[in-house]
Amino acid sequence: MRATVSVPGKVSLFGEHAIVFGEPALVAAIGKRLTISAEERSDRAVRINAMDLHVPGVILTFTEDSPELTVETDYGHMVGAVGYVREAIEAASEHLGSRLGVNITIRSEMPVGAGLGTSAAVSVGTVAAYSILAGHQLPLGEIASLAHKTELRVQNIASPMDTSVATYGGVLYIRPTSPTHIERLQVACELPFVIGYVERESRTSELVKKVRDLRESYAEIISPILQSIGRITERAKAALAEEDLPTLGRLMNINHGLLDSLGVSTKALNDMVYSARFAGAVGSKMTGAGGGGCMIALCPGKELEVSTAIKVVGGCPFRAPLSCEGLRVESVEK
Ligand code: MEV
Repeated sequence: MRATVSVPGKVSLFGEHAIVFGEPALVAAIGKRLTISAEERSDRAVRINAMDLHVPGVILTFTEDSPELTVETDYGHMVGAVGYVREAIEAASEHLGSRLGVNITIRSEMPVGAGLGTSAAVSVGTVAAYSILAGHQLPLGEIASLAHKTELRVQNIASPMDTSVATYGGVLYIRPTSPTHIERLQVACELPFVIGYVERESRTSELVKKVRDLRESYAEIISPILQSIGRITERAKAALAEEDLPTLGRLMNINHGLLDSLGVSTKALNDMVYSARFAGAVGSKMTGAGGGGCMIALCPGKELEVSTAIKVVGGCPFRAPLSCEGLRVESVEK
């Protein structure tokens, strides 16, 4: 039996990092997807064919009782996303009370590990495809919660933001309460974003830890910055409802400045952010955990100019419309 699912990537519009410390965030699914197939094996091993995860065509096999991975490739370094597959299978197996051997194949239409929520997409997709193979089509809430558990196990700290938007799609306002407060926003207007991408220098877990350490050392300075980001998110939610793009742009700029003050932006990200504004974007900011990766520019009527400006400073621009669709079951073959 083989189950194939697809999951959207995301851009965080407002509130990344602050959401880890209890503030709200606004996040949107994008029309670029990651596809995961799970195929039953006759033994209990897990084989991961990570077609697009930095190292093309790498094939990894591990079994339940051997922590060692067998790597069937000449290529060097291990791929971060593999940890998410492994933990997602563990989390789903514990939840379902059964452990299967599977071949997992992953394909991605977007750069992986670039701040577009691909580790959350891998976690959500693996939980969903594996559960179908085990005979359970789980409710979305259970999939989102198992995927969040997966991210917590791999990263130690993670908000439910990325796993929620990967599961449900759309534009979401999220508060990290228990249970997670999720509001799906009706966005009537087009949000013409250009995304700029540069190679990532640090992992999400390192960046989240960096902010946590900074907050511990300078609580009276950093906590108000995180709270301000939360307030920006609230104002942005209202601006989105009023289709007020100039206000959204200004709020993006302020949010970027605060993220930079937390030390999670980089020169390459800043170059893209400022050149996009210079080329006519009404607002621009890094998106996701930072340390390189992606930025977004809101640039109605200036998409071409902004894309060129991003290219000129060494970034890779691409367009990705926002998407309503979350997790989708593509096929189940007996
Ligand atoms: C990463 O996409 C977003 C962060 O806020 C981490 C998280 O929410 O888990 C940096």
